[in-house]
Amino acid sequence: MNKLVISLSFALAAFGANVHAAGDAGAGKAKSAACAACHGTDGNSAAPTFPKLAGQGADYLAKQLANFKSGERKNAIMQGQAAGLSEQDMADLGAYYAAQAPKLGKTNPESLEVGEKLYRGGNAKTGVPACMSCHGPTGVGNAPAKFPALRGQFAAYTESALKAFRSGERANDAGQMMRNIASKMSDGEIKAVSEYVVGLR
Ligand code: HEC
Ligand code: HEC
Repeated sequence: MNKLVISLSFALAAFGANVHAAGDAGAGKAKSAACAACHGTDGNSAAPTFPKLAGQGADYLAKQLANFKSGERKNAIMQGQAAGLSEQDMADLGAYYAAQAPKLGKTNPESLEVGEKLYRGGNAKTGVPACMSCHGPTGVGNAPAKFPALRGQFAAYTESALKAFRSGERANDAGQMMRNIASKMSDGEIKAVSEYVVGLR
């Protein structure tokens, strides 16, 4: 390849990486009717078995829907829900839920100390990094990087997500980022940090 071809292909690769369907929150609202029974009309789900989607990053949400559809993230209910969605539908749904206000909760006082320490400082002894470094000091995540928001999420869901990463049952994390972290966490740490982020703000 000559230099021009090489630089052109780099330019195209960079361009391609940034191209994805832009979401329309209004269109997403109409498409979210099918989701409301489990995730609530505004993404504040009524039961802890259904994760809250309100205020979550749009690109993270679209990625999860694509992962459910492809089977890269396994869940029988969500695979069925995502099966008929186009890339545009996923972007629209992501934009809609990202624009909704999440209902935050309260940290169980018993988990405050252990949970906060792990979230802010990690565990140097076992090599668990501070969650804050990717998920943000207030748990809002990092939307462009697709690091999800954790604040306000039901503890039971966060706990099951961490355990799924730890066992490898959930394996849709780029570069095994979360599997590597969760594999070093104890049950006690998982419970404490899950109860901590409920009230994080
Ligand atoms: C019958 C109940 C049900 C319906 C309807 C449903 N979901 Fe879900 N959804 C779930 C469950 C259960 C999970 C948790 C899956 C897991 O633990 O991996 C989930 C997880 C998700 C997640 C992952 C959230 C995260 O934090 O990673 C997204 C995104 C999502 N659903 C979007 C949708 C959208 C969009 C629709 C409508 C097109 C929808 N869901 C319809 C039950 C449902
Ligand atoms: C190096 C960056 C990084 C660090 C540090 C990190 N995470 Fe994550 N986390 C991610 C990424 C990326 C994802 C999304 C994976 C995907 O695409 O599904 C994620 C996803 C999660 C999820 C799933 C959220 C959902 O809605 O399903 C939970 C829970 C979570 N992380 C908790 C933690 C906790 C607790 C810590 C600290 C012990 C931590 N993370 C540290 C990058 C990180």
